[in-house]
Amino acid sequence: MSTAGFDARRFKAQERAGFNRIAEHYDEGATLRVDLQRALLDDAALQCGERVLDLASGPGLLARDAAVQVGDDGRLVASDIAEAMLAVGQRRATADGLANLLFAAADAEHLPFADDHFDAVLLGLGLFMFPHPERALAEIRRVLRPGGRLVLSVWGPREAVPLISHAQDCIARILPKPKVERPSVFRFGHAGPLELLLRQAGFGGVSIAEHRLHCHFPSHEAYWQAFLALAGGAAEAIGRLDDALRQRLASEVAGELEACRSADGFHTDSLVLVASARR
Ligand SMILES: C[S@@+](CC[C@H](N)C(=O)[O-])C[C@H]1O[C@@H](n2cnc3c(N)ncnc32)[C@H](O)[C@@H]1O
Repeated sequence: MSTAGFDARRFKAQERAGFNRIAEHYDEGATLRVDLQRALLDDAALQCGERVLDLASGPGLLARDAAVQVGDDGRLVASDIAEAMLAVGQRRATADGLANLLFAAADAEHLPFADDHFDAVLLGLGLFMFPHPERALAEIRRVLRPGGRLVLSVWGPREAVPLISHAQDCIARILPKPKVERPSVFRFGHAGPLELLLRQAGFGGVSIAEHRLHCHFPSHEAYWQAFLALAGGAAEAIGRLDDALRQRLASEVAGELEACRSADGFHTDSLVLVASARR
C-alpha cells in the first residue's frame, strides 16, 4: 500500500459521510468512555464563565458536561465536520435546556472562529482523524487566547488498542486492501511524536498522561457496534457492503474476539494518551 494518491478532500468526505451515518447511534457506546471523558475535563479545569470549544465534538458529549462546568455565564461551542452529529447534539441540548451550548459545523483544519476567542479547546479522539493535524493545531492555536489551554486525547500504539485493532485485523482479512493508505489512527500513539507535534505547532507546557480504557461488551455484536461508532470511514465502507460480506465480517469478529472472552462477555483494555498544552 502507498500514500501516493491520497486525496484529503475525499478522505474527509468519507469520514463525514460515515459519522453522519452513525450519528443517531454514536452515544450508545459512550458510557464506555465516561472515565476518559472525566480525565479530559479534569485536565481542562474549566472555570465558570469561560468560553470553550469542543472540536471534532461528535454529538457533543464532552461539550454537555463542559457546558455545565462553565455555567450560565460561560459559553460552549461544539464543532464537527459531520452535521448529523451536531443535529443530534442540538436536539438533546434543546430538550435539556442547555442554553449556553451552541453547535457549529466546521472542518477542524479551517475554523470559522475569531482569533484569541476561546479560553480552552477540547479535542477528544479527533486529532488523528485530520489529514493535516498540523493545520488543525495551527487553527486551534489561533482561536485560543494567549495562555489558553488545549486538552486532547488520542489512541495509544496499535498493539495497545485492542478496541480498534481486533476490528481492523478482521477487516484486513476479509475485505480487499485499499489502493491508497489512510492515515493511521495510531500515529500519535507514543508520547514523543505527540509532544513534538504540539511543540512544533507553538504550544508550551505540554504534559502527556496515559489513560487505561477498559471496555466490557456483553456480545461480539456490541463490540462491533462500538467499533463502528468510533470509525466513521470504516462505517461508511462497511455500510455499502452486501449482506453476505457483512455476515462474513461479523463471524470473523466473533472468532477474533475469542481471545478476550470471559464469563460475562468480552473485555478489552486499551491505551489512550491525554495531552494538555498552553498557547
Ligand atoms: C471518534 S469521534 C470523537 C467524537 C467526540 N470528540 C468524542 O470524544 O466522543 C471523531 C469525530 O471527529 C469528527 N471529524 C472527523 N474529521 C473531522 C474534521 N476534519 N474536522 C472536524 N471534525 C472531524 C467526526 O465527524 C467525529 O464526530
